[in-house]
Amino acid sequence: MTETFFVGIDGPAGSGKSSVSKQTARRLGFGYLDTGSVYRALAWHVTQGEASTDDPDAVEAAFSTFEPEISLDPDERSVRVGGTDVTTAIRTPETTAAVSGVAKTTAVRPKINELFRRIVAEASQPGVIVEGRDITTVVAPDAPVRILLTAHPDVRAARRSAEMGAADVAKVAEAMRRRDASDSTVVDFLNAAEGVETVDTTNLNFDESVDAVIRVIDERREGG
Ligand code: DC
Repeated sequence: MTETFFVGIDGPAGSGKSSVSKQTARRLGFGYLDTGSVYRALAWHVTQGEASTDDPDAVEAAFSTFEPEISLDPDERSVRVGGTDVTTAIRTPETTAAVSGVAKTTAVRPKINELFRRIVAEASQPGVIVEGRDITTVVAPDAPVRILLTAHPDVRAARRSAEMGAADVAKVAEAMRRRDASDSTVVDFLNAAEGVETVDTTNLNFDESVDAVIRVIDERREGG
């Protein structure tokens, strides 16, 4: 069996990370793994058991019965946990609020990372675009392609507001700044680690951003 080609992409909210990763996967015929959705699915699983994600023991206990099924098809992104379809449930404000407790449970992160590596190793596609916060640094520091997608904070806030249909860009910018600050206490996804290629999308439109990412992947694939 040939090894799945691993492309790790990290970056903050509004960098274009999810949409660019998905489109890159489509164009290359690769799978797409949104690792945040796994953190969200685990948060959902913890709260189903009436426990709090702020309790590290409860998060660890919940992981031992966590059986997620994640579709790697960029056009059919479904997430199931123990047979229940949670694709929509993991995007509710309740799960979004609960997920940071899971992300901060440092004892469970290595186990989640092992799960990501296994999902990629068992993928039917020739490669997988793995998107998250600590993919280039912790999950796959030896991956053949590691990219940090960035954009100026004002541009990220404007994109996020447009996505949400929100008129108050300043409010969105403040919420994003707070979320980045909270998330980055666990892993640094704002600065590229050594050997990680930065793709700054501040002055790029969507297609140009995808082209820039594919250029990096092609260079690394050809370079062997
Ligand atoms: O990208 P998202 O909003 O779906 O991420 C959900 C949460 O999971 C967020 O708190 C960041 C965290 N996360 C993480 O700590 N490491 C990852 N590789 C992916 C997500």
